[in-house]
Amino acid sequence: TIELPFIVAVDGPAGSGKSSVSKAAARRLGFAYLDTGAAYRALAWHALASGLDLSADAPEDVSASIVELLPSFAYEIGTDPDEVRVRVGDEEVTDAIREPVVSAAVSRVARVPEVRARLTELFRSIMLATERPGIIVEGRDITTVVAPDAPVRILLTASEEARIARRTAELGDAAAGAGASLKRRDRADGKVVDFMNAAAGVTTVDSTELDFGETVDAVVGVIDDGRAQT
Ligand code: DC
Repeated sequence: TIELPFIVAVDGPAGSGKSSVSKAAARRLGFAYLDTGAAYRALAWHALASGLDLSADAPEDVSASIVELLPSFAYEIGTDPDEVRVRVGDEEVTDAIREPVVSAAVSRVARVPEVRARLTELFRSIMLATERPGIIVEGRDITTVVAPDAPVRILLTASEEARIARRTAELGDAAAGAGASLKRRDRADGKVVDFMNAAAGVTTVDSTELDFGETVDAVVGVIDDGRAQT
């Protein structure tokens, strides 16, 4: 018989800690880990590298040009929580996709429906192909669109102040404008998918008052409860 991996869906806004928390929880459970935001970022990187104008005042028909890039978008992402590498074609873009130019452009790419449909397909195939007993898939629409039937679905939230403080600490010297850019991105992304309110059946973990270790414990606790019930 084929054992399907145990799927854990995690959504949340920018700066909620969902990437680092999901990664740590996956490590602890021996699960794989998929960062879906990295795929949107990789496509934004590819679009910028292809010379597309993704600035806020770019012409609306840039969407069509982004869709044209999809067939040639050769994207690879590792699902080992200890070594997350992202490649586009022959290029290693693991660090490049975190650059502010990509963060500023990514919402433009993520709001194109054809892009979401194509990446959702990719995520589902990666998810089911894992050889580990389970996988934590993290993003904005995992609990609602990518894996609405997952046995464990979590919305990881934190107050806007807490998220901005964390993002600022993370960026160190590069933190100027972190608050403004986080708010801008939440606003843009929030028009596409609702990742601020838990859908029916989704467990909310609010990390505002928790430190990193406590948040990981809370998420692993929800996953363990879910596994005990299946
Ligand atoms: O989580 P992140 O900041 O790396 O995500 C990058 C962008 O991708 C973010 O602006 C929203 C978008 N995204 C999305 O629309 N759907 C997802 N499942 C994951 C990310």
